[in-house]
Parts: sequence; C-alpha cells; structure tokens
Amino acid sequence: MLTLALSKGRIYKETLPLLKAAGIEPLDDPETCRKLILDTTNPNVRLIIVRASDVPTYVEYGGADIGVAGKDVLLEHPNAELYEPIDLKIAECKLMTAGRENEEEITGRLKVATKFVESTRRFYADKGQQVDIIKLYGSMELAPLVGLADRIVDVVDTGNTLRANGLIPMEHIADISSRLVVNKASMKMKHAQIQKFIEQVRSAVEERNND
Ligand code: ATP
Ligand code: PRP
Repeated sequence: MLTLALSKGRIYKETLPLLKAAGIEPLDDPETCRKLILDTTNPNVRLIIVRASDVPTYVEYGGADIGVAGKDVLLEHPNAELYEPIDLKIAECKLMTAGRENEEEITGRLKVATKFVESTRRFYADKGQQVDIIKLYGSMELAPLVGLADRIVDVVDTGNTLRANGLIPMEHIADISSRLVVNKASMKMKHAQIQKFIEQVRSAVEERNND
C-alpha cells in the first residue's frame, strides 16, 4: 500500500490532474466528506488529508510514503530527512516581506510577524540585520495595521490580500511552488512502485508545461 499525504484546497485541486495521469482517482471528495483517509481507483494507493504545514512531518516519519508540500513549508523544515524529486510547479507564489504603504520611520529593531519563522530568520541573518520575529499562525496582514509588527513575511500571488489591507510587497525572499516529497525508507522498501509513480507524475508535469 502506498500512502500519499495531501492538504485540502489549492494543493489538492492542482494535484488531482497529476494523480489522474498516474491512474489514481480518489473515491471521495475531501472538500465534501469528512473522511481523512480516502481510497482511490488504485487499490494499492490511498490518500490521507492533512494540514499543509503537516505534510513534511507525516512524510518524514513514515505516516505517508509520499506527499505534496509547498516550498515555503519545506523551508521551515530545513533538516527534514526527505527526498524532493519533482517540482510540480503548482500553487506558485512568492515569499516576500511586506509593510504599510505609508509607514512611519522605523526606529529600533524591526519587528517582523510571520508564520515562516525559519525563512524569516535566515533572510534577515543573511542581510546581517537583527530583527524581532513574532510567530503568528495566520492573518499576518493584520499585524502592521494594529502595531503588532513593522513588517510581515508571507506568500504573495496576485498581491490582492496585501493591497486590500493597505500593505505593499517589499523584498523577494524565494520563489515558491509545491514539491513531491518522499520518505527515505519508503523509497528503498517500495522502490519500484514509487519510481513508477514519480515517472508518471514527472511526465504529466512536463506534458502540462508543454501545452
Ligand atoms: P495550513 O492549513 O497548514 O495553515 P495553508 O492555509 O497555508 O496551510 P493553503 O492555503 O492550502 O494552506 O496553501 C498551501 C500552499 O499553497 C502553501 O504552502 C503555499 O506553498 C501555496 N500558496 C499559498 N497561498 C497561495 C496563493 N495565494 N497562490 C498560490 N499558492 C499559494
Ligand atoms: C494565501 C496567503 C496570502 C494570500 C496571498 O491566503 O496566506 O494571504 O494567499 O495571495 P494573493 O497575493 O493572491 O492575495 P489564502 O487565500 O490561501 O487563505 P489562507 O490565509 O486561509 O491560507
């Protein structure tokens, strides 16, 4: 049995066509049913539905053989023992710093609110700038508006969320897309099955990108 970990929402939606190309179609829709383990048209493959930020943990510790995770999430797990064989080029966005359009001069240490603590720490450390990082779990855009922080670090796609909250993107930290990740022991123990799956998904990604 091969277990694939996916998160609901954009990753699930954008991974479905790639799974289909590998002959895998879920028998239930996680958006409408409450099941967390979904059987598929391939009796040897099941899907588990987990939080996007939990995918690396499930895959690293063998709760799933394979997963799909955003690079932003993977960057938060720099020491995770995982293979990352394919850039699926889905859920593309950028990790950026952002701040208020009309910000006043910032005196003292910059306060940065984010759920991406590791990437933020590394970004400012590389610039040699000391900052105070404030860990949040969501709605980062609020932090500069209520004086909790001077800046945020978040993913940006259209920029609509920032704009709607009077913020502007400032510095580019990383280009983000979702990656296939594979448990290291599974890669050895289920080599033929996983290798075949990887090749099918790789072809589907290439075909889609050539269209
Ligand atoms: P969690 O539920 O663990 O807090 P999340 O709410 O960030 O995670 P999603 O919103 O489904 O989960 O995002 C999944 C991934 O999609 C992110 O890790 C990121 O790589 C990418 N992503 C996030 N927002 C966007 C966006 N607006 N456009 C494109 N890709 C995005
Ligand atoms: C994500 C992310 C940003 C927003 C950026 O939120 O947290 O706030 O997308 O995209 P934009 O630049 O196109 O506005 P999402 O819509 O996934 O909601 P979430 O906060 O529940 O993850």
